[in-house]
Amino acid sequence: MEKRQELYAGKAKSVYATDDPDLLVLHFRDDTSAFDGERMESLARKGMVNNRFNAFIMETLQGAGIPTHFVKRLSDTESLVKRLEMIPVECVVRNLAAGGLVKRLGVEEGKELVPPTFELFLKNDALHDPMINESLAETFGWATSEQLAEMKALTFKVNEVLKQLFADGGLLLVDYKLEFGLFQGQIVLGDEFSPDGCRLWDAETRNKMDKDRFRQGLGGVIEAYEEVGRRIGIGFD
Ligand code: ATP
Ligand code: TYD
Repeated sequence: MEKRQELYAGKAKSVYATDDPDLLVLHFRDDTSAFDGERMESLARKGMVNNRFNAFIMETLQGAGIPTHFVKRLSDTESLVKRLEMIPVECVVRNLAAGGLVKRLGVEEGKELVPPTFELFLKNDALHDPMINESLAETFGWATSEQLAEMKALTFKVNEVLKQLFADGGLLLVDYKLEFGLFQGQIVLGDEFSPDGCRLWDAETRNKMDKDRFRQGLGGVIEAYEEVGRRIGIGFD
């Protein structure tokens, strides 16, 4: 496999073509953004930590029967993935109230959500990723109703696998965002799963161990990501 030209540079990752039209290289950079890119900072080791974190989670999910784009980790900061036709809809599941939900509905942070909630957001930075619903997604052609049903089922299946994985490490999986795409017509989990796109709290102290440390200026961002990784069995050396 040969890495070719850069196709896209996002806020945290860069995407490269390869000599195989079905495969891409994802480069996890140290860049960290919050508030739609309003705040940007480079955090040493972040690319390496998120690349290893994501590889571990994607392999775990694949092992649990969830189709993912992940092929293999290539280096400290790069992974090989299947090239997907991305669906511009973000799927969010919440087990506990936090972030946008607390702001929007005025519920208490940390309230247990039974059953867990499922929300859709349009992937559109210029519009600040607005919340949408299945009707809007279908009407505007972002996803079909069958694709939405499948994405929802897979997102909840991920919840069962990861809630337990993190619980075993003394962590609460508060919420997370997933992105899906199509590979040869099949819905496949894409993008990444790392503490950048989810909330994780220490089960006892409820200390935040995810990107909220960056959003809220709490410091120790990458140290927290590494601590989470260690607790679920990832080595970073
Ligand atoms: P956001 O942070 O809102 O997700 P971004 O575009 O800045 O947006 P990055 O993670 O920096 O996000 O960029 C990675 C890009 O690669 C994303 O647009 C993501 O949808 C896309 N992507 C991820 N996995 C694949 C894949 N397997 N095939 C094609 N594109 C992918
Ligand atoms: P949410 O609380 O709606 O938004 P915010 O974090 O901006 O207050 O987010 C729920 C979870 O999904 C949280 O762990 C962050 C993640 N997420 C993203 O990573 N990117 C997104 O574009 C969205 C909508 C959510």
